[in-house]
Amino acid sequence: MAVVETTNLTKSYGKLRAVDGLNLRIEQGSIFGFIGPNGAGKTTTLRILATLLQPTGGDATVCGYSVVKNPREVRRHLGYMPDFFGVYDDMKAWEYLDFYAACFKVAKSRRIRMVDDLLALVDLSEKKEAYVESLSRGMKQRLCLARALVHDPAVLLLDEPASGLDPRARVELRELLRELRAMGKTIVISSHILAELAELCSHIGIIERGRIAAAGSVDEVLRRRHEQRIVAATVIGGGDRAREVLAGQPGVRLLRPAVEQEGPEATRLTLEFGFDGDDRTLSELLAKLVGGGVPVVSFTERVDGLEDVFMKVTEQSDE
Ligand SMILES: Nc1ncnc2c1ncn2[C@@H]1O[C@H](COP(=O)(O)OP(=O)(O)O)[C@@H](O)[C@H]1O
Ligand SMILES: [Mg+2]
Repeated sequence: MAVVETTNLTKSYGKLRAVDGLNLRIEQGSIFGFIGPNGAGKTTTLRILATLLQPTGGDATVCGYSVVKNPREVRRHLGYMPDFFGVYDDMKAWEYLDFYAACFKVAKSRRIRMVDDLLALVDLSEKKEAYVESLSRGMKQRLCLARALVHDPAVLLLDEPASGLDPRARVELRELLRELRAMGKTIVISSHILAELAELCSHIGIIERGRIAAAGSVDEVLRRRHEQRIVAATVIGGGDRAREVLAGQPGVRLLRPAVEQEGPEATRLTLEFGFDGDDRTLSELLAKLVGGGVPVVSFTERVDGLEDVFMKVTEQSDE
């Protein structure tokens, strides 16, 4: 079931279409990475989902409720962590959470327990009595995340939570998101830095100038961008026979000159080729090489990292 769905969602500021006919489906239980360069429309989209901003066209639903027609229900099911959060002077960590829980009409007796649980979840139990402004950026971020959880929402929207965090705080954030996912929450997390999200997300959507350039499971997006697969075959005993076999196969295009390397027994030669075909035809190609008497020592597909895919996708939408 799609927990978050947008249909032709549009937000215009004068002539600028910050969000331009966005169609997105985010499934229950996924960690969805919303990735795009600065100004792509991530914050605008998240603010519309959080019912803080009205779309100029289209609609979006959260747990089946329309952000336009039923914003109150949407807010009940959703926690939102903005990219910038206000500082509350003279408030201790626990008071901060207690305050927000009270805003959501959580009874005083339940709040005491809940605040402790939330502080434990975000690993801030020891900072219970500390003033908010004295916390490090990573701690403030986690406190803010705890704040977004006071009403136990099904969906969490986190706008650039990893920006400005040091590597250690990032690892902690990652752990925390895993825990939240295990609790059954659906998480939407935005970033302009793909690498921040690569290992964290089950699904990604790449947004460029208000439009989706690619979306799906991380694997799908990676695979779909493999218009041309690149395969490297390493052989011994000279490359003539390998070249002969490869040249006779449809969909194979030899790339750059072969690279020689001293192996433990004989000189190894690595031939890189582009390949248009599915896994089955690729495995048949390997069988042909081996069957044709080519001593293959390794046969691997070069898998582009997410960063490469991001570059490719955004380049394509520039054209
Ligand atoms: N209140 C506003 N008035 C005019 N333009 C805006 C406003 N908010 C955002 N924009 C513009 O909309 C586009 C998308 O912004 P934003 O959603 O913040 O992108 P992102 O979060 O991906 O960096 C940008 O070009 C930005 O300048
Ligand atoms: Mg933003």
